Amino acid sequence: MKTQVGIVGAGPAGLVLSHLLHLSGIESVVLETHSRSYVEERVRAGVLEQGTADLLRETGVGERMMRQGLIHHGIELQFGRGRHRIDFAGLTGGKGVMVYAQHEVLKDLIAARLEAGGTLLFDVEDVNVQELQGPKPKIRFRKDSEEEELECDFIGGCDGFHGICRPSIPEGVLKVFEKIYPFAWLGILAEAPPSSQELIYAHHERGFALLSMRSPKISRLYLQCAPDEDIANWPDSRIWQELHARLEVAEGWKLTEGPVLQKGITGMRSFVVEPMQYGRLFLAGDSAHIVPPTGAKGLNLAVADVRVLAAAIVEFYASGKTELLERYSETCLRRVWKVQRFSWWMTSMLHRFADDNSFDMRRQLAELDYVTSSRAASQTLAENYVGLPFE
Ligand code: FAD
Ligand code: PHB
Repeated sequence: MKTQVGIVGAGPAGLVLSHLLHLSGIESVVLETHSRSYVEERVRAGVLEQGTADLLRETGVGERMMRQGLIHHGIELQFGRGRHRIDFAGLTGGKGVMVYAQHEVLKDLIAARLEAGGTLLFDVEDVNVQELQGPKPKIRFRKDSEEEELECDFIGGCDGFHGICRPSIPEGVLKVFEKIYPFAWLGILAEAPPSSQELIYAHHERGFALLSMRSPKISRLYLQCAPDEDIANWPDSRIWQELHARLEVAEGWKLTEGPVLQKGITGMRSFVVEPMQYGRLFLAGDSAHIVPPTGAKGLNLAVADVRVLAAAIVEFYASGKTELLERYSETCLRRVWKVQRFSWWMTSMLHRFADDNSFDMRRQLAELDYVTSSRAASQTLAENYVGLPFE
């Protein structure tokens, strides 16, 4: 098999890359170890930056998102006994975010790629990448018990944090930057109408909590928990009890409960490798970097990477020029580090750290008071949350 761009992984990075390349007449093949239904049902992120939502809409895959997604023009920060709104629209010249589940974005992208005759191979096994420094890198894999080889001009390493692309780069080439946080998030999806119009990020002495949503009937809620927490210790009743304790601080406000449809624990880390390229292998999304979810940035950063990569590949085929490809890593990393900083800052401001003393608690509260009372500080949060401009 031959193609122009071989893409490992059918997550947001891989599928948006394949879609953008197709729109410029460039052929790709996407290889995915999981099944189509697994990819289309796995519950993960839910907040799209303005620029991510605009890209999906402008490239013809935003029709369902525009019908079913929820446009938000602000968030609430809760601390002490009160809530304070950050008005994104007023602080960013009318921008906002779109609440629309990651797996719904993936369904829309998969449908569009298949309709356009694209090749997406699910349930592949033993994927490995070869000859990365040569002009024709190869991807070997097994599909339906047959050994296959895909010869390409470029490889998109879009296979997430646990994929094989990053570890295929020889030792010593990549520099790793990492921070692991001493807590995790316990997340639930509940069949309950969201108790608030807007997302609530709550600082609480019992630990952070987040109220989010997926639709007018489905809530998505998170609780800070121990990094090694066993989900078996969290029956639904205990989860609701803890959510009530952390979220019901304002007089008269009630959290609506409902059947828990799904629950899970997600660890928290900040991680970056530099550079994001080795020969003709280009890493994009979680394969190159991870952010803690407090800034809602993981998916958005994956899309930002492949925007840069697609433009560089398009320029190469149009003119033979390699400047944009050579600058890929440097261009992406400028945004990656700014987003790392924002995600770390939101995480540090809102979570309870085991070693913190009463001084640290007062410092966090002062920071939240400042962020919600100074226009300059609110604007800093707002412009990062809706998404920094593209270069
Ligand atoms: P992924 O979405 O991980 O996609 C990579 C794809 O590659 C996967 O489909 C995987 O099956 C496939 N793959 C892996 N190995 C191979 C291989 N060897 N060969 C072929 N295919 C392979 N972000 C938020 O903003 N909010 C959240 O609430 C949130 N929750 C999360 C929960 C979990 C459990 C995880 C893991 C992440 C969460 N994130 C969240 C982060 C966000 O979902 C990711 O940043 C985003 O999915 C990154 O997209 P990606 O395409 O780079 O990687
Ligand atoms: C979500 O809805 O899943 C969500 C929202 C905001 C975050 C993280 C996750 O910061």
